[in-house]
Amino acid sequence: MRSISPLVALVRSARGWRSDVGLRETARRRNSNRCRGLWLGLLGSLLALWLAPFTSKAADENKLEVFSWWTSGGEAAALEALFSAFKTQNPGVDIVNAAVAGGGGSAARPVLQTRLAGHNPPDTWQTHPGLELMDQYVIPGYCEPVTDLYRTNGWDNAFPKNLVVSMMTKDRKIYAVLAGVHRGNVLWYNTKLLEANGIKISGRLTFDEFFAACDKLKAAGIPALGVGDSGIWTSAELFENTLLGVVGPQGWSKLFSGAMQWDDPQVKQAIKLFAKMLDYVNPDHSALSWDQAIKALMEGKVAFSSMGDWADGEFVAAHKKEGEDFGWVNHPGTDGSFMVIADGFTLAKNAPHKEAALAWLKTIGSKEAQEAFSPLKGSIPARTDVDRSKFDGYHQWSMDSFAKDQLVASCVHGEAAPAAFQQVLNDVVTAFMVDKNVDNFANTLVQAARESESPK
Ligand code: BGC
Repeated sequence: MRSISPLVALVRSARGWRSDVGLRETARRRNSNRCRGLWLGLLGSLLALWLAPFTSKAADENKLEVFSWWTSGGEAAALEALFSAFKTQNPGVDIVNAAVAGGGGSAARPVLQTRLAGHNPPDTWQTHPGLELMDQYVIPGYCEPVTDLYRTNGWDNAFPKNLVVSMMTKDRKIYAVLAGVHRGNVLWYNTKLLEANGIKISGRLTFDEFFAACDKLKAAGIPALGVGDSGIWTSAELFENTLLGVVGPQGWSKLFSGAMQWDDPQVKQAIKLFAKMLDYVNPDHSALSWDQAIKALMEGKVAFSSMGDWADGEFVAAHKKEGEDFGWVNHPGTDGSFMVIADGFTLAKNAPHKEAALAWLKTIGSKEAQEAFSPLKGSIPARTDVDRSKFDGYHQWSMDSFAKDQLVASCVHGEAAPAAFQQVLNDVVTAFMVDKNVDNFANTLVQAARESESPK
């Protein structure tokens, strides 16, 4: 992942220069008295010490630190594709991959916040657009705008205006470049396992059809729904998808604008459906991560998994075949909606390597990098002018959905609601796994919405 060769080259030239000083000293020492030699030696050492910050700074200038949480098989492969595109354009720059493991960024974000507060920013970091970008990074003053990159690279028409303007712009300044756009509301399944149990899926799945399939699988002793909620966000995502399936895109915008309350009968209906789903979950769910749950699906240990399409990156990394090994359908009830979970990168204010960071953003926004990254990541390219023939069936399906469906922003991934509300949702989901108390779930969210500025 790291390319050390350019750094080695720099260190070597610095050392060569210093050893040249050392050689001249030695020659003089032979012709002088011992005391004079010692003085010269001392002078040489002082000179070397004085030069050290300059030489190490020179080496340091050729670095780029990229912070993300992309460490699963598919994520790491896709990140590497971005690194490789960057290295082609910037062969002299050594990338420091500062990824912090933990799906959904739940472990990475606190580490990042500590670094930002301590004036030790990475040059660029992964962020979701919307409130996460604005509240956590732009408003506190941690980011530089990157509007000029859009202007100089002719990106104004290449990236979807609805995302750039509504989720990444403040005071007419743009603050991130998108690498890809994930679709959150996807229900993945193991094709062979469903076939073996006489379950057919044709294009869409209602809640009733889904539960009928779950019952069939349960009768055969198979946990229908694979969850890996060692990071609770995955169960929160199962709830989020179910909520969208009940309230629909209009209800979604009402909920997040305060026009619908979190104890609305429709929300309670979604909570009840979520409770019902928990009856079909794999018993080891709390010990698994999201990608381990997807692996369990590939291995036929579970049949379904409701997960954003970074799951597709895992199928690709494991060389699984669409249709033959795995299939997908909208999470029940969510036909016609595309839950946007986009991945952007920022430019840090006082970035230690600003030129390299700008070059990184230019790379990830390029057509070539977007075409190389998303097939491995599961997302669709954020740019809408890519060559579609470079993408597989899932990506074609998702691109069509992005073009025609209602786009909604994810709460679980920090776009639609402030971090405090996102946290309360995770906490209430954790509590619900134990108490299954629908009223408590709804009332806690009503309270949290009241306490946070948005959603009201
Ligand atoms: C990110 C994805 C990532 C997923 C799982 C989401 O928040 O947007 O890029 O693959 O988390 O780690």
